[in-house]
Amino acid sequence: MANDKKTIKQIATGDRTIPPEGAKMIPVYIMGREYMVPETLTIMKAVEYAGYRYIRGCGCRGGICGACATFYRFIGDYKLRTGLACQTVVAPDMVIAQLPFFPANRPDYNLEDVKGDLHEELRRLYPEVFKCIGCGTCTRTCPMDIDVMDYIALMKRGDLKGAAHKSFDCVMCGLCASRCPAQISQFTAAMFVRRLVGKYVFPKAEHLKKRVEEVKSSKYLKMLKEVTSMKTEEVKKLYVEREREPDMAEQGAWLPKDKDHL
Ligand code: SF4
Ligand code: SF4
Ligand code: FES
Repeated sequence: MANDKKTIKQIATGDRTIPPEGAKMIPVYIMGREYMVPETLTIMKAVEYAGYRYIRGCGCRGGICGACATFYRFIGDYKLRTGLACQTVVAPDMVIAQLPFFPANRPDYNLEDVKGDLHEELRRLYPEVFKCIGCGTCTRTCPMDIDVMDYIALMKRGDLKGAAHKSFDCVMCGLCASRCPAQISQFTAAMFVRRLVGKYVFPKAEHLKKRVEEVKSSKYLKMLKEVTSMKTEEVKKLYVEREREPDMAEQGAWLPKDKDHL
């Protein structure tokens, strides 16, 4: 890696980002190479500015999908930091490595087969959860500011509802698991718990049940056929001209004028 400032390479340019007028150029290190990038960019845009093209490790670009988990460290600083590439702004002397995928524990299960004690099922599928040593590394690592250690503690105690609630904002980036000394896959265990709670603990949503029954009874097949037989331009027009619920409408109060399709 070139970390001598005198060896800074010529500026690389990608075609995705136009540097904001007057932005200061700063050195960052991507895949071990030094690049000068505008200081206003996120890591993701800086990577593209440097000439790389994402074919994975990039999804929503909005901090939601968790595809862009990233490690970085500053030259001369021992601390390993983490963030989402689409949300973290570059800083001088940042040494960046993106985590394209983390091999988490993903046991095979079918929620329909879960019978009996849900906590025991968690223990059977994710025994490592019960080996947490309470170091807090996962909580310090999480880019969503989730108290990961706490939801693991709730899982251990059998408070699955609490764990589901506490882990709800997880974007499945895998960073917590990548740093856990007990080798726990917190995020996949939490997903399992949320599924269990959704299926067996929370009351069934009546409106959802009704809609599923309507779908199963082929109520929407005719409409679907109408739309799929339209030309692309007609579908676009229909989409643009559709009736839309106002942003501030009272929950459940708004209905479209045309109720034929409800
Ligand atoms: S809990 Fe883990 S997987 Fe979920 S957002 Fe936080 S670090 Fe990422
Ligand atoms: S990093 Fe692992 S061992 Fe440490 S608190 Fe989190 S889950 Fe527990
Ligand atoms: S690209 Fe989706 S969270 Fe960054």
